[in-house]
Amino acid sequence: MTRPPYAGTRYPKLTETPAFTEYIATGWGTGPVPATPVPGAPEAAAAHRDRLSARLPGETIAVAAGTAPVRNDDNDYAFRADSSFTWLTGAQIEGAVLVMAPRPGGHDARLFMPPPFRPGDTGFFANAAHGELWVGASPGLPEWADALGLAVAPLADLDGLDLTGALATATQAAALGLEPSPLLDRRLSQLRMVKDDWEIAQLREAVDATVAGFAAVAAEIPHAIADGLGERWLQGTFDRHARTFGNGTGYTTIVGSGPHAPTLHWVRCDGPVLPDEVLLLDMGVEARSLYTADVTRTLPASGTFNPRQREVHDLVEQAHRAGLAQIKPGIEYLDFHYAAMEVIATGLHDWGLLPVSVDEALSPEGQQHRRYLACGIGHHLGLDVHDCSKAEYEDYMGAELEPGVVMTVEPGLYFHANDLTVPPELRGIGVRLEDDVLVTDTGSEVLSAALPIDAEGIETWTKAQQS
Ligand code: GLY
Ligand code: MN
Ligand code: MN
Repeated sequence: MTRPPYAGTRYPKLTETPAFTEYIATGWGTGPVPATPVPGAPEAAAAHRDRLSARLPGETIAVAAGTAPVRNDDNDYAFRADSSFTWLTGAQIEGAVLVMAPRPGGHDARLFMPPPFRPGDTGFFANAAHGELWVGASPGLPEWADALGLAVAPLADLDGLDLTGALATATQAAALGLEPSPLLDRRLSQLRMVKDDWEIAQLREAVDATVAGFAAVAAEIPHAIADGLGERWLQGTFDRHARTFGNGTGYTTIVGSGPHAPTLHWVRCDGPVLPDEVLLLDMGVEARSLYTADVTRTLPASGTFNPRQREVHDLVEQAHRAGLAQIKPGIEYLDFHYAAMEVIATGLHDWGLLPVSVDEALSPEGQQHRRYLACGIGHHLGLDVHDCSKAEYEDYMGAELEPGVVMTVEPGLYFHANDLTVPPELRGIGVRLEDDVLVTDTGSEVLSAALPIDAEGIETWTKAQQS
């Protein structure tokens, strides 16, 4: 090896080496890099901006896409745009900021974005986050303007804008040097609750891809058992499916076998898949538009529930059906919760597991049955898995359901492996049954109905995926 003459004194910095910077700036062919939003997204976003504009007349609104969190040095976590930014623009553009400036009768929307670094820019070779040599070619301002039907300006122009008093979302306000505005978060949550036809189509796509992902995972169960690959193999199977057929997962994939099934968010997934135990799978594909599904089924790993597992599943199914039956326009959001909880409390009482009467348990001062179901049993679903969570009680829990709302129904029973209040044969059984449900004009539609909810149907379906 020949050491260069400068070895030991300096290492050449490419940005300070004129011969290099001049040479790398030239000799590149140019080609268009089209912006390719999900079809229909720009039109849906324009309608969303109009709705927000009507709710916040006279206010300046600033919504940032955010930036990828740094993992180490110039290695970032994957970028995923702020959901409200995507709802209002139809795109994910790292570092971009949407500003809606008030004018008489509405707002003027303008998107400020960092221009991609092209040949001739230092960043082309020196910026690991946006340089074409590092991350590939990205669409520029005219391409995004054309694709989104929005005025687009360089991010640097934002400095010339007076955003004093502008409303910004809590998650992104600091990046804009603004105070977070609970009002904007609340308005966005309120507006995002009722989905339009395009959004419903996106949610259908996410749910359909999720159902296919469940099939892919079920098919791998024998392999995971026989070769000792464990919960991780199944988690990885779903994650690969989600990344291939969507943007990724809408939340961290939960795969809990046996004593892990009662752990509500078992994402560690470092255990084996036990052949005689139940396997709780809570998994959701996030579509390329970023709308996500959130579905849970609890399968018998062997293909057949034992009598005790079946009994628990049957009670959860009964609660699930009671919850689903409530869902229609005009009922209060929490009615499905009360209906499902009544079934759970009654069932637990019949099994001798409640230290008090059903009425006492269901009273606000009681809630003893929640020992075995400590989480909520549903939530809005959309761009976020727990969508619209910045809404106030009267917008959400206490509000009436409207057509276009999409929500989950997900009762469960979770008997922890070391819960001494339950008989040993129940310990380590966890069952959740989670569907994604659209409120229609006359009632509801279960978007995830392609997956069975009854124990026998689940057994048949599980075996079918493995044959
Ligand atoms: N997967 C998270 C939830 O069910 O809410
Ligand atoms: Mn859920
Ligand atoms: Mn879930």
